This record gives sequence, structure tokens and C-alpha cells, in this order.
Amino acid sequence: MGETLERWSTRRAFILAVTGAAVGLGNIWRFPYMTGENGGAAFLVLYVAFVITLGLPVMMAEILIGRAGRRSPMQSLAHLAREAGATPHWRWLGLFGGITVFFILSFYSVVAGWSIEYLIDSANGNFAGLSPQEVGANFDAFLADPLRMTFNHTLFLLLTMSVVAAGVSGGLEKLNNLLMPLLYLLLLILAIYATTTDGFGAAMAWLFKPDPSAITGTVVLNAMGHAFFTLALGACALMAYGAYMPEEQSLPRAVVAVAILDVTVALLAGIAIFSVVFSQGMDPGEGPGLMFVTLPIAFAQLPGGSLWLSIFFLLLLLATWTSSINLTEPMVATLQDAGLKRGHATAVIGALVWAAGMLSVLSFSTMAEVHWIGEMNFFDLVTTVPTDIFLPVGGALIAIFAAWVMSQETAQQALGVDAKGFRLWQSLVRYVSIPLVVIVLISDLF
Ligand code: PFF
Repeated sequence: MGETLERWSTRRAFILAVTGAAVGLGNIWRFPYMTGENGGAAFLVLYVAFVITLGLPVMMAEILIGRAGRRSPMQSLAHLAREAGATPHWRWLGLFGGITVFFILSFYSVVAGWSIEYLIDSANGNFAGLSPQEVGANFDAFLADPLRMTFNHTLFLLLTMSVVAAGVSGGLEKLNNLLMPLLYLLLLILAIYATTTDGFGAAMAWLFKPDPSAITGTVVLNAMGHAFFTLALGACALMAYGAYMPEEQSLPRAVVAVAILDVTVALLAGIAIFSVVFSQGMDPGEGPGLMFVTLPIAFAQLPGGSLWLSIFFLLLLLATWTSSINLTEPMVATLQDAGLKRGHATAVIGALVWAAGMLSVLSFSTMAEVHWIGEMNFFDLVTTVPTDIFLPVGGALIAIFAAWVMSQETAQQALGVDAKGFRLWQSLVRYVSIPLVVIVLISDLF
């Protein structure tokens, strides 16, 4: 199959699409609970360091491959490999990305379902007047109800798959254009409000005063995995978007803009959530339920709290939606390459992801004690291994391909920088990013 002629309509549209992929549950749900479980500021510092040393250069690598190939991830890889006289087996990296996003989407959709539940609950004013303990008990009761969780998970997947089936750039661009700034604004208001609460000082210390003794191998691995996750990196998902990037746009500038936006969203969410944690004497290491227990409490203290809480969950859902669409794209592209029509490909993937997601749904009730590896039930497993292992492995291979395997003239052209800029990127990727991933992964193995 030849090059695609489709392009994002404007430069802004490309940045917004990539931001849409990047900003999602990873920033507002995952970042706070991971920070809480991994020693606070120590995790944050490592995570930001990984965003700079790995995230930025590897993100450029991933998108430039898509932009140079102008095809689906598997085909772009095969085409560019052939052009450089390397083996077209590099295409299997696209399949690996597809497998990775499959598992990520399976739990992502379940957690998105939690947000649907909270949207409805808050719109009905169900959180009004509840004590923090009652909010926590509510969440536990919800998790123990597989029927409600199944309904929401199913609904969310249907929403995602219907947009994907309709094609990439159409519906997506408009949605992104409209809603990102609003979500940002609400988080900003929450974070500003947090400065007036009792827990603000403790939250700031927890987030920004690193305790070096908190750094362990696991913390390093988790921080690296989260850097990839939050930037939507390492699964060929951004590669798929890069194929539609306009010729004249600066790739490095776009990538830096996205990373800054992405990290600030996480920081704002962290400030808002940990201020509640410390005001209420809660445990920062509460786990995946952290956001769902703290936000209702935070909003309850604001005038018109229920309304704002429901708006917040609505916006979060939309951000989650755009990330899910990005998660689905590499899988659909792969099946399309195998000859399926877009609609059929989407239906097949939707059904498979739904089934895998059900294992996560049941991880909170009937299958809670079914351990897959060590002590991990299915939800524990899919929320860690694909993110902490598969994404970095995929990211390292993508980086190797871009900076060592493909034609470096083509790479420079697709990156859109002069010779000096290109050498800087190339050296960063070759001698910093790739070795760093390998060292962290290997040292964790032993
Ligand atoms: N970046 C998304 C988030 O932070 O919620 C999650 C994600 C999207 C991960 C796309 C991986 C991916 F390919």
C-alpha cells in the first residue's frame, strides 16, 4: 500500500491530537496514585527526568517514523527498513505495539467506566453531604458490583469504537479543539483552591521535597513506565498519528509543547488531590482508588460542588476518550493491513478488548483472589506489566530503528531540523535514551 495523502488540517490540529492522546487518565488518575505509592517527590523528580531524557527524544523518534513512512505503523516500519537495506521484519514492532495497547485499553476502558459512574452520581448530587469515610465506602461498594462496572465499561468501549470506525481526523479534531482548555481551567481552579486548604503545605512538601531514601529499583522502573504511559509513547500509537502530520510543521517544537502541557496537567491534578489527602489525613498510597475518593471531597467544599464535579468528570471522560481512540488506532491499522475493512476491524478489536476488560472488572469481585503472577490479580497485572515493561521495550526498539536502522537522511528530513539539530537528537537517542532504558530494565530484572 502506498503513502497516505491525508493530513491533519492545521498545525494546531496535530498538536491537539497528540495532546489528546497524551492527556488522559494517566495524568489525573494514574499519576497521583503512582506518586502516592512510590514515595512522592522522589517519584516525581525521576518521572520528570525521564520525560526529558527519554520522553522528548523518543517521542520525536516515534512520530518521525510515522511521518517518513506515511503508512500504518507496520507498513511504515517495513518500508523504511527496506529503503535502508535492513530487514522488513522490523514491521513486527508494530504488532508488538498493537499487543501493548490492547492490554492497556482493556483496563483503561474499565477505569473510564468508573468515571462514567462518577459523572452520573455527581450530576445526581449523590456525593453532597457525604463524609470522607462515606465517599470511600461508596467507591468500595461500586467496585464490588460487577454489573454496574460491566455496563459502564461496555458503554465506554462503544463510544470509543464508534468514533474510530468513522475514521481518524474528522470527529477527533473538533472534540480536542473544544475541550482540552476547559479541563485545564478546571484543574487550575482546583489547584488554586487547594492553596487555601490545611493540607496544602504537606501536599507541596510531599510532591516537591524529594526524599532520596525513597528511591528504589521499583520506583525507578515505575517512573520510567509512567513517563512512557503519560506521553502515549512506545506503542506505535503516536507513529500512527505522525503519518498525517503536515510537511511544514516543526516536530521538535510540537513535541516539547505536548510534553509541557502533559506534565502540567499531572502536576495540577497532583496538587489538588494531595491537598485533600493531607487535609483529611488520608493515606497517599491508597492506590488506584485515590482520585475517586479525593475529588468528590475536594469539590464538596466548593460552592456548587456537585455541578463542578460532574463537569470535571465529563471533561475527564472526554480526555480519556481521545486517549482511547489513540490506543485503538494502531490495532485497527494493523487489522486493516491484514485486509479487513475499517468497520470490521474496529468491531473485532472492540469485542476482544471488551472480553479482556471483563477480567479487570471481575478483579474487584469474583476474581479478586485469582493470582496471575505472584500476588497480582488481572487488574494488577495489566496496570503494571504492559506499562512498565512493554512500553519501554517498544520505545527502545522504536528509538533504535529511528537513530540506527532507517536512513538517517530520511530521518533528518522527517524530523525537520538542520544538520546540527539532527546530530544533537541522534546523539541523545543513541547514547542517552537507548542505554538508559536498557540499564533500567536490566537492573530491574536482577
Ligand atoms: N497517555 C494516555 C494517558 O496518559 O492517559 C494513555 C496512553 C495512550 C498510553 C496511548 C499509551 C498510548 F499508546
